[in-house]
Amino acid sequence: MAAGPTVASSAATPAAEGAGELNVLHWWTSASERAAANHVAARMAENGLKWVDGAVAGGGGGPAIKVLNERILRRMAPKVAQLNGQSMTEWADMGLLLELDGVAAKRNWSKVMFPQVMAQVTVHGHVVAAPLGIQRINNLYLNKAVFKRLGLDLPNDWDGLERAAAKLRAAGITPVAFSDEPWQVATVFEAMLLSEAGPVLYRRMLEQRDLSAFDDPALERALKRLRNWRNLALPANSALGIAPGERPWTDVVADFAAERAAMMIMGDWARGELGTMGLEGERDFSCKAVPGTAQAHLYSIDTLAMLAGNGGSQADQEKMAELLGSATLQLGYNRIKGSIPVRRDVPVDELDPCAQQSFHLFANPNTPRVPSLVHRMAFGEVGKNAIIETVHRFALDPSQTPAAAQRKLQGLLRALAPKTKASP
Ligand code: GAL
Repeated sequence: MAAGPTVASSAATPAAEGAGELNVLHWWTSASERAAANHVAARMAENGLKWVDGAVAGGGGGPAIKVLNERILRRMAPKVAQLNGQSMTEWADMGLLLELDGVAAKRNWSKVMFPQVMAQVTVHGHVVAAPLGIQRINNLYLNKAVFKRLGLDLPNDWDGLERAAAKLRAAGITPVAFSDEPWQVATVFEAMLLSEAGPVLYRRMLEQRDLSAFDDPALERALKRLRNWRNLALPANSALGIAPGERPWTDVVADFAAERAAMMIMGDWARGELGTMGLEGERDFSCKAVPGTAQAHLYSIDTLAMLAGNGGSQADQEKMAELLGSATLQLGYNRIKGSIPVRRDVPVDELDPCAQQSFHLFANPNTPRVPSLVHRMAFGEVGKNAIIETVHRFALDPSQTPAAAQRKLQGLLRALAPKTKASP
């Protein structure tokens, strides 16, 4: 049995599989994502299971989900797929997902896991996926070496960030690491929306889909912030205003790590990646929250669903699900990935200070936990893609006013049909 994953087999042509072999379709292809997946594969190998890798490159998983759809239509479903958030409901409704109620009951998931996690993986009363980790999205990373070298204090608010940006620029350093890739632009935007709107209004907009909430001036302010932030990503030595470009998120992290840029807003996966580059949270970079969001946890939960109808594999799929939820795997995987365990009973003092902070915040019942739009916690694939596109167009088109983008978003939400009742 191999100790690690086999090299990516083409996702469209799965190799024939033997007993214990599970082909896994996912989008973890960066160094840290790969290492985290390898960790899972190694634990599986110890338990007589083989992770047959079906990685589809593309941060945020857009391409992977397209491949998954195609494979399902061609009746070539993988046995296991990364399937986060709301899409799970759609897939479960079609009877495509194996129900894992037996595993959940045996391992007492409803007790040991966070209630939000169980809510996320439960559809119509059935557990339909195994949760792996919780990512915090509203992180502001500041490169401490750069700030120290320039004798700058670490800013805590937007004005402070703007002032620091001016000094960074004067010193020839691009203030902000950024990418124009749509899902990345929108991930930054949702953190800004949380900052301007606060958790209650954010939820009214994206969870309850209350159209009147889209009239609020906080939305226009968040759009303005997004535009300002992107402007701070224009190269320091360029008077021409060269666009940041649609670069993979790993390039953005590399710019930040190599001190080509000093500030970055990104989900916890960035911390995993910085870890593989030898940078540690709080020692080399701060893990502050995006201004105005310190009390809130804008989250995304990574989950693996087991596809139904893979005759003969159910026992292996259940065994894998059981393993994914175990305390030791939770700790090992999340330490590499940058996320935090989905269980409440894991000794998190072994994780870095940023992860501990995220964990304690998430665990505190008074913390507003706010679902990520971009990472499918509030909308399924189609809805979130439409919103991402609208935000992306605005960010890249200086002729579009924030007020116009606000109206477009409201119109889009109207077309996507508001929910009839608020979610619990
Ligand atoms: C998210 C996912 C993370 C990370 C990130 C970048 O959707 O939840 O685990 O992989 O994309 O690819």
